[in-house]
Amino acid sequence: MEKHTNLNKSFHIQTFGCQMNEHDSETLAGMLAEMGYIENENKRAADVAIINTCSVRENADKRFFGTLGQLKKVKEERPDVVVAVCGCMMQQQHIIDTLKTKYPWVDLIFGTHNLHEFPKLLTNVLNERSKIVDIWEDGGEIIEGLPAKRMYPFKAFVNIMYGCNNFCTYCIVPFTRGRERSRRPEEIVAEARSLAASGVREITLLGQNVNSYGNGSDFSADFADLIYQLNEIEGIDRIRFMTSHPKDLSDKLIAAFRDCKSLANYIHLPVQSGSSAVLKRMNRKYTKEDYLLLVEKLRAAVPDIAITTDIIVGFPGETSEDFEETMDLIRRVRFDSAFTFLYSIRKGTPAENYTDQVPEAEKHERFNRLVDQLNEITGEINKTYEGKVEGVLVEGPSKTNPQILTGRTESGKLVHFKGTEDMVGQIIPVKITEGKTFNLFGITETVE
Ligand code: 5AD
Ligand code: SF4
Repeated sequence: MEKHTNLNKSFHIQTFGCQMNEHDSETLAGMLAEMGYIENENKRAADVAIINTCSVRENADKRFFGTLGQLKKVKEERPDVVVAVCGCMMQQQHIIDTLKTKYPWVDLIFGTHNLHEFPKLLTNVLNERSKIVDIWEDGGEIIEGLPAKRMYPFKAFVNIMYGCNNFCTYCIVPFTRGRERSRRPEEIVAEARSLAASGVREITLLGQNVNSYGNGSDFSADFADLIYQLNEIEGIDRIRFMTSHPKDLSDKLIAAFRDCKSLANYIHLPVQSGSSAVLKRMNRKYTKEDYLLLVEKLRAAVPDIAITTDIIVGFPGETSEDFEETMDLIRRVRFDSAFTFLYSIRKGTPAENYTDQVPEAEKHERFNRLVDQLNEITGEINKTYEGKVEGVLVEGPSKTNPQILTGRTESGKLVHFKGTEDMVGQIIPVKITEGKTFNLFGITETVE
């Protein structure tokens, strides 16, 4: 007989970071559901409390250790609670050392490469009541068939590859997620088909650099081939992908944008800087001109394509002239929106040792100017939606007003409009009445 039972036991997962992490948490939730656990919204009341960590976002360390500190009290009051930590931060030795010395009450530590082992690790912790630290240095074979408890029944993340080989000099990801490995196209297509059969309308393909999908594998399909295959699937009306490296964006993929009805008119294409000199030091392997040319080609193929980006301000050695190149680039491209980051050092990356760090005050001044300019452009673009009818995939009632529904256009813009609950999960035509900086407002034919 088992020493423990999971009947009525609950779990809570707190997730930091990117969509890859969000999807890993869906996998963890799926595995816990298969073990008989139910989800608990209250992390202080759950029997298993997991923190899925991120190494990329600003202050990720501080936020993680803060959250962990809150759980210490819970552990004191209810020693049977299992506190587990996982994700990118666990692939960094200095974090493991800190956890071992300063947070001895953490029960289970595992990493990005052995997520699939979680049920076994948890069972061992419960049966032995022992602490387990299990970190793998690199990813082995891709494990197929893991369950997932997804956030929405009508849209889903689908991993297509893991890891990154690019080593941008500021970035920790190649060290926490290992080398590139691609799932086989037939596995991805089979997953997408079964998602479609269960009512999913939109899939977002995930990978650190989806444009190098298939590199180094024993199959011949590249990323564009995969898109063409997924485009054939009945029921999948929208395909998105994240993230795409400009250096590997092929003409074949641009053609796929033109040819594939289901490929959404949206691309997230991180530029990071508008200065070719800074891009070189970042090891990005493209210039400002290369990037502008890509944008031109994308817009020639799909005139209404929405383009979003990531920009880092204050990379070591960034002069005010370099920064003006970034300002010039955003005015020329006119991004639909952008995620902006203040450069900060990540331990273990090449840029950690760059000596010409930009003073904090200077970085903030540039950052504010950049954000103001980006917001102005976003507002102007969103205004051009006024009067247009957009297909909106309805996600649910708005957080502040249940009468108002929110959803996204094919181009990824958030829309609020008055509707009825039966519209959730459907693509509904909505006439846009107002375009603001952060969202659009609209009306439907049926509900005024
Ligand atoms: N400092 C600031 N921003 C960073 N990013 C990655 N590493 C750093 C860093 N050290 C940003 C990049 C990337 C996004 C996910 O996070 O813009 O595209
Ligand atoms: Fe990091 Fe560059 Fe890889 Fe993106 S492409 S995950 S920024 S190393």
